[in-house]
Amino acid sequence: MCGIVGYVGGQQAAPLLTEGLARLEHRGYDSAGIAVVGSAVRVVKRAGRVQELVGAMPKRIAGRTGIGHTRWATHGPASDVNAHPHTDATGTVAVVHNGILDNAGALRRRLEDAGVELASDTDTEVIAHLVARSEADTLEAKVVEALAVIEGTYGLAVVHADFPDRVVVARNGSPLLVGVGEKEMFVASDLAALVRHTTTVAHLDDGELATITASGFTTFRADLTRTDTSAHRVDVDPSAYEHGATGTEPRMHTEMLEQPASVERTLRGRLDERFGTAHLGGLGMDPRELRAVQRVKILGCGSAYYAGQMGAQLIEELARVPADAEAASEFRYRDAVIDPDTLYVAVSQSGETVDTLLAVEEIRRKGGRVVGLVNVVGSAIARACDGGIYLHAGPETAVASTKAVTTMFVGFALLALQLGRVRDLSVADGKRLVAGLGRLPEQIEDVLAGEDRLADIGKTLARAESMFFVGRVRGYPVAREGAQKLKEISYRHAEAYQMSELKHGPLALISPDVPTVAIVPDDELTDRNIGALHEIAARGGPLVVVTHPGVDLGDLVAERIDVPRNEKELDPLLLTIPLQLVAYHAALTLGHDVDRPRNLAKSVTVE
Ligand code: F6R
Repeated sequence: MCGIVGYVGGQQAAPLLTEGLARLEHRGYDSAGIAVVGSAVRVVKRAGRVQELVGAMPKRIAGRTGIGHTRWATHGPASDVNAHPHTDATGTVAVVHNGILDNAGALRRRLEDAGVELASDTDTEVIAHLVARSEADTLEAKVVEALAVIEGTYGLAVVHADFPDRVVVARNGSPLLVGVGEKEMFVASDLAALVRHTTTVAHLDDGELATITASGFTTFRADLTRTDTSAHRVDVDPSAYEHGATGTEPRMHTEMLEQPASVERTLRGRLDERFGTAHLGGLGMDPRELRAVQRVKILGCGSAYYAGQMGAQLIEELARVPADAEAASEFRYRDAVIDPDTLYVAVSQSGETVDTLLAVEEIRRKGGRVVGLVNVVGSAIARACDGGIYLHAGPETAVASTKAVTTMFVGFALLALQLGRVRDLSVADGKRLVAGLGRLPEQIEDVLAGEDRLADIGKTLARAESMFFVGRVRGYPVAREGAQKLKEISYRHAEAYQMSELKHGPLALISPDVPTVAIVPDDELTDRNIGALHEIAARGGPLVVVTHPGVDLGDLVAERIDVPRNEKELDPLLLTIPLQLVAYHAALTLGHDVDRPRNLAKSVTVE
């Protein structure tokens, strides 16, 4: 949430900063701004998108050092004055900040009592005043002094008119990376802003600070002692990041269409056809350790949590190990009992979601073993886990998660397969699933090829103010994910329910104005599910049924969406994809910006 960029080097900073911000806009898009250090610190900031900031930029804003920010509002509404960077009264210091200061109220009062006039409603502004009021000799020491009175989370970057050759950054709970160039250095909250310039990066740890100058960087702790954080080359394809800044097609659409390739990448090198199992070296667990696992507990947020529910079902079915998923955002607050025989699995696209990260840290503090299913390599969650499975979905920048969710499902299938094959899952069943996983990319193509029809269904659903998504057992997390996609980007009310629970209350809401999207795969529960559809139809509820070819829906009047058959355990993946497209087209019909839905941002790094 919120994006930070910074630059020191031989080039003019302003265009580099705005270009970096455009690449980070998915992280927050209600306002943006930059500060450039030339003969003085100059700040330009605006409510609205980065494009509006670029439009407002004066012709000449010279300086080879600068910082920039794109904001997702926490303290105070999106306005010019609340946009970052924030400065002290004299404009000597400028600060950009991700995260939330818990004691901002007290610090604001203290500053006001000392005669400081605060210009904005933000928590961040206090940092600028604190740095400016420090009498320390160096910028590093001034920042450290300010941080000493701050409580909360931050990734922040500071520039100062008296130290025009440097940017000082600090991290506590919000990611920051230093990018190493040729006689120039970068800093950013996300690799996406760096890859065009460099893929040699250093990840800062919590509690760490860094100074970047044109000639290099140094890292240190709050007592000003040096740390030995070094830069390394990350194995990413910079072209994979290009679309976000330049493309006209919504990023969400591109990402949905990338799913055959992303699923193939998740599978690559991990399937063992001969023994019907998976190889997951990154888990760092030998067969004995895998066998010793008594339970699996999956933790994630939002769509990652729903993918986790799909994963728990897979693990119970294939490995016959009790498994469940819980929202990490709840888990971390309930002083959970940590069981040494449970394998905890943290699932996250960004690897930054603060609730998931704090859940991981809590488990490890209490002696539990956590592995990660994470997309972003080297991210905080990936680094906090004991081992893991990288998803290899490629960069996902649309706020609504699509290709990450389907690769999470595949990651769980691989884990379930491996856990199953060290137990009682037969070679024959293992081979059956390996073959099924191998078929997925092509079958995803088939589903995507039906986009025109799914667009029509999306248009029809967009007319309804409110709707249900229902499913049973394997179908229920699919329904939850379908409802989530629809509400995020179309702003229609979509409620997911277990098919079996409808008659215990919500059936009262069914009417011709309230459609139901039902997940009805061809499996051992099909008849039960069709029974529930009749109950909905009998009350005049319009139905959209996601199912398999040949499932006899009898005389139900329903729109049906057929997805290809695979092994029934793998059904959730192919059932999920049409719901992404339906949501996407519903949102387009309603004229929404699908990549930047209101009130949301990618990567929830605040509590
Ligand atoms: C939904 C969505 C969010 C994320 C959630 C977790 O489309 O994008 O619900 O799934 O915020 O994010 P990660 O996976 O980055 O931990």
